Amino acid sequence: MSHKKAHKAQKYGFVLFVLFCAITSVKADDGYRLWLRYERLPARSLNLYRERIRTVSVQGTSPTFDAIRRELSVGCAGLLGMPIPVGDRDDASVIVGLPQTSPLIRKLRWEAELKSLGPDGYRIRTVRGVVVIASSTDIGALYGTFHFFRLLQTEQPLDNLQLDQAPRLNFRVLNHWDNLDGSIERGYAGNSLWNWSELPERIDPRLTDYARANASIGINGSVLNNVNANAQILTPEYLDKVAAIANVFRPYGIRVYLAARFSAPMDIGKLPTADPLDPSVVAWWKAKADEIYKLIPDFGGFIVKANSEGQPGPRTYNRTHADGANMLAAAVAPHHGIVFWRAFVYDMKPGYDRAGAAYENLKPFDGKFARNVLLQVKNGPIDFQPREPFHPLFGGMPQTQVIPELQITQEYLGFSNHFVFLASMWREFLDSDTYAAGRGSTVAKVVEHQRLTGIAGVANTGSDRNWTGHHMLQANWYAFGRLAWDPDTPSQQLATEWTKLTLTHDPKAVATIVRMMLESHEAVVNYMTPLGLHHLFWGGHHYGPAPWWDTEKRDDWNPVYYHKADAFGIGFDRTRTGSNTVSQYHPPVRRVFSDLQRCPEKFMLWFHHVSWDRKMKSGRTLWDELAWHYQHGVDWVRATRAGWGELKGVIDEERYSAIERKLEIQERDAVWWRDACLLYFQTFAKRPLPAGVEKPAHALADYKAKALDW
Ligand code: GCU
Repeated sequence: MSHKKAHKAQKYGFVLFVLFCAITSVKADDGYRLWLRYERLPARSLNLYRERIRTVSVQGTSPTFDAIRRELSVGCAGLLGMPIPVGDRDDASVIVGLPQTSPLIRKLRWEAELKSLGPDGYRIRTVRGVVVIASSTDIGALYGTFHFFRLLQTEQPLDNLQLDQAPRLNFRVLNHWDNLDGSIERGYAGNSLWNWSELPERIDPRLTDYARANASIGINGSVLNNVNANAQILTPEYLDKVAAIANVFRPYGIRVYLAARFSAPMDIGKLPTADPLDPSVVAWWKAKADEIYKLIPDFGGFIVKANSEGQPGPRTYNRTHADGANMLAAAVAPHHGIVFWRAFVYDMKPGYDRAGAAYENLKPFDGKFARNVLLQVKNGPIDFQPREPFHPLFGGMPQTQVIPELQITQEYLGFSNHFVFLASMWREFLDSDTYAAGRGSTVAKVVEHQRLTGIAGVANTGSDRNWTGHHMLQANWYAFGRLAWDPDTPSQQLATEWTKLTLTHDPKAVATIVRMMLESHEAVVNYMTPLGLHHLFWGGHHYGPAPWWDTEKRDDWNPVYYHKADAFGIGFDRTRTGSNTVSQYHPPVRRVFSDLQRCPEKFMLWFHHVSWDRKMKSGRTLWDELAWHYQHGVDWVRATRAGWGELKGVIDEERYSAIERKLEIQERDAVWWRDACLLYFQTFAKRPLPAGVEKPAHALADYKAKALDW
């Protein structure tokens, strides 16, 4: 081939390659990039932004500023569809920096305001046409940069920005229930992201992407290992690996924390006891903390699951939860570390109501925990059910720093198969009024008005290419971070933002998807556990229904314990005529929940044992209403499948069809739930299914026989 021909062929080859990239980037998306896709914006905003953003200046030098620089050059080029020079000059159209590092920001004299926004806060302002992103710290500048990207990705005008932002909660932490063998307890998106065998030598680049994604939504901590902890994580061998992860996370403002097994001084320390008041145990933990902080100076601290579900704890030695927590807190205090002490404690006498157990166990220690202990309490009193009333410990321990634990992974909500936008459920929880200090003492307020504040979310991430198994469930990781930053953010805003960042800018499609997202939680409650029912799952998997199950050795591990269906009716009486755990709530809440007339129907069977014939607000009997809810849940999944079909061509084929396949599974499961539950409850209610509710395809015996195969 002549030189000229070769050149021509090369040129065509290049054009073809570019074309191929352009086509495939529209077509295929495996979801890896999450909400940080930075695809080219629609033409309507592209021209405006191109005019506005000609050059970017990042004024600062540190690994975090390097990350900011990388983000801005990749992000702006992607969104604007052309390279945008990123330098450090004062005459750029976007400037990021701190007063200490940027002459221009120094001239603006914002020091006092930036300081009052705190270390994670930032200011974004349009100053004489220039977008200025300023903070008093590198991490704040990084958060501001991601906010700037959200503005672009949601096509906001940049002409007159006046934003001051500071997170409302201090500790915004993901809890990974990851085991050292790479499996994840209650994980449904592959294996652990931490590859312990190759650490610390090889660092998976995915760790950086994980940290980036978290930083983009304000998450600032990760507990790396399962709360059912293996003490090995605290050995020097593993601590080196943990330190390697911490080094990757540090520029993104993510601190690492570890779940500490309370018996570690015996398991790996060869002590004869783990008694928290034994001086050798105290010394062991202190030395361990010193060792960790030597390797990881910004180590966050420990989380502990003690005396719960077989885990060791201070009660083993006749010491209290406060004794245990405070001993560990003293070990990390000199290094400014903290201890998350979990309140998921329910090991108690037979005959008790599990919903009241945590309160009974922990309330006596109100005011007894050290200053650097945070009591981590699940949103509801049982265990991450599709719907629970708020946990009475919120507002119940005024002298203790209490933080919510939410479960992002869907242990009881259809794993990574069912599309459920959890922000609606979390909103309901955060907005619940505890009446702790009179009307308006919502959970969000109680949690926010403490010296140290925080929130934890059990992660739904794993090694699956799209991180969360189901593309739509990335939205729950996103929503968790955004709510941790501002617990008042409306679900609608979260859904809209996420959809625009992640799926599409098409206004009609955005509206459809957001509507589906906002309806999805109520739908799953309808087809799984409507009207306050809970824990109808088979204990072995927590996926499908087994409301008939009654053979577990502990009463409270059996669904029959929770629904108490009989010839009269159904539901758990937690009022004075029953377990009376409703008394754990403040009087105004207690009065509403205890009164069958006033108790919201969505919590009715949580608090009351109700006659099948009771007239509901709709005018239907309870039995008919129950059946209607189950049917309604199924109808929603079917309508959503149909609605999804209309989005074909709007969303890239790969994600579109992956979501379609998941919806198919969701419909199968919803039908299964409805039929299995209604057939079983019918054996007590002895009433026909009302009109409009489909006849189950199989007999109850078939559902029972197949229940364990899920
Ligand atoms: C649930 C879950 C367990 C987990 C526990 C906890 O019971 O099924 O896997 O260990 O919660 O939160 O500690």
